[in-house]
Amino acid sequence: NETPVAQTKFSNVPNTDWILSANRAWISKMKSNWQNPLNILGDTIPVVGVLPKKEREKTSIEAWNGTHPWTYELADSEDYQQVIEATSEWYGFSVNERAELLRAAAVEIEKNRADLIGVAVVELGKTVAEVDVEVSEAIDFANYYAQTAIDLYYTEGIESTSSGINLVLSPWNFPIAIPIGGVLASLAAGKRVILKPSQNAAACSYLVAKALWTAGIPKSAFAFLPAKEDTLDAFLIDDTIFDAVILTGGTATAKFLLERTPKLKLFAETGGKNATIVTALSDREQAIKNVVQSAFGNTGQKCSATSLLILDEEVFNDNHFKYLLKDATESRPYGNPWDFETEIGPLAVKINEKLQHVLDHTPDSQWLLKPKVNGGFFLSPGIKWGITPADYEYKHELFGPILCVMKAKNLKHAVRLVNNLDYGLTSGIESLDTHEVDYWLNNVRAGNLYANRSTTGAIVQRQPFGGMKASCFGFGMKAGGPNYVAQFLNRSEKVLFS
Ligand code: ALA
Repeated sequence: NETPVAQTKFSNVPNTDWILSANRAWISKMKSNWQNPLNILGDTIPVVGVLPKKEREKTSIEAWNGTHPWTYELADSEDYQQVIEATSEWYGFSVNERAELLRAAAVEIEKNRADLIGVAVVELGKTVAEVDVEVSEAIDFANYYAQTAIDLYYTEGIESTSSGINLVLSPWNFPIAIPIGGVLASLAAGKRVILKPSQNAAACSYLVAKALWTAGIPKSAFAFLPAKEDTLDAFLIDDTIFDAVILTGGTATAKFLLERTPKLKLFAETGGKNATIVTALSDREQAIKNVVQSAFGNTGQKCSATSLLILDEEVFNDNHFKYLLKDATESRPYGNPWDFETEIGPLAVKINEKLQHVLDHTPDSQWLLKPKVNGGFFLSPGIKWGITPADYEYKHELFGPILCVMKAKNLKHAVRLVNNLDYGLTSGIESLDTHEVDYWLNNVRAGNLYANRSTTGAIVQRQPFGGMKASCFGFGMKAGGPNYVAQFLNRSEKVLFS
């Protein structure tokens, strides 16, 4: 038995304050360092694990500006097999030692904040401010999961017997916080872990992974294995290999994995079709500010984005509201993510087929703000006015900068429109009336509920993040919340103090 360690109280790290000229100078320096990304990352991103050096297949992706910034090695099934079968000193580490290493990882990630911003701008066209917030979230995950592991052990008396291996399948839209969050939670629970990053975001995931190894987390505990999807088939049809498969991605992917392997231990946070309701009793200008942020932040490529705006009839018919919504959207700086002022950048991947469907099937008269297409990666923000539950946009997650507006007869009707959606990830309301907000809170079905603020940007510990309905598979414990690590423990409940 270990001596309990003094508890370090968790607190969120601050984001960069862009008002300060020193911070702007700091990021300008980063920008010049990243003019030649190869100087920082080398030209090939390697597979990392306790693996022999060998010739591996390489691939690259086309980034938003038409370049192919890196090649990266692809792991093959032999690499996966070797990592899965390996042993590691990790299983001998105490919970205190694991937590210390996670906290050291947090320090390393902070040291690399500038380069993490740089790599995400180069690889995915994220804006500087959007990546900055994501880096803070990654640091918070490290400190918070370290504390959670300690709390579970010393306060709840739950010990994890270390063994087993998890697999993290991560997306490209949050290429730093999401992959590393799954990795850190697995390590906190005493698991070894393999990260298979999105093929579009391997460089971002590699750079944040490096911070963990630099902090002392052994490569035998955490392997980075970019791979083609079918490389994993053999491992995912066998439900005994991974203790947990942590997926953040499409609902279709989660369904496919479970249909193929019903007993797969899948913990998936999938898509969203999120709505914000604006009632007649709202502060309408505040509502517009929050909705524009929720709909177009990260160019709409967030599972948490508001993509449906449901307006009470009175607001729907308010021409001044309509004018302000259009103006607030149109006037947000849009374009090159390297420009410090840019708030809405390019798409990280080329216009997807759902966005294309909407672009192809919307008459000009229905656009309050018509999006402009410029090449495959540039789609300016658009607002489609007056859709109904029969429309394509009501049923499909578009994952891009198109906001669709609906009319509701009243709040009850608006909540019904939200609850009839397949998904249930985030939901918002704008109302200054507490009865309305209470009614909404008691009746709306979604994982993260936000009143009078944006529906994106959940903060670790304060707003644990996760959904219901088609947005969630598995136990549904929320990321950045007190139960997230617990779901990965090999629980041998034992009484530590009597
Ligand atoms: N956790 C991210 C957000 O809240 C997806 O926007």
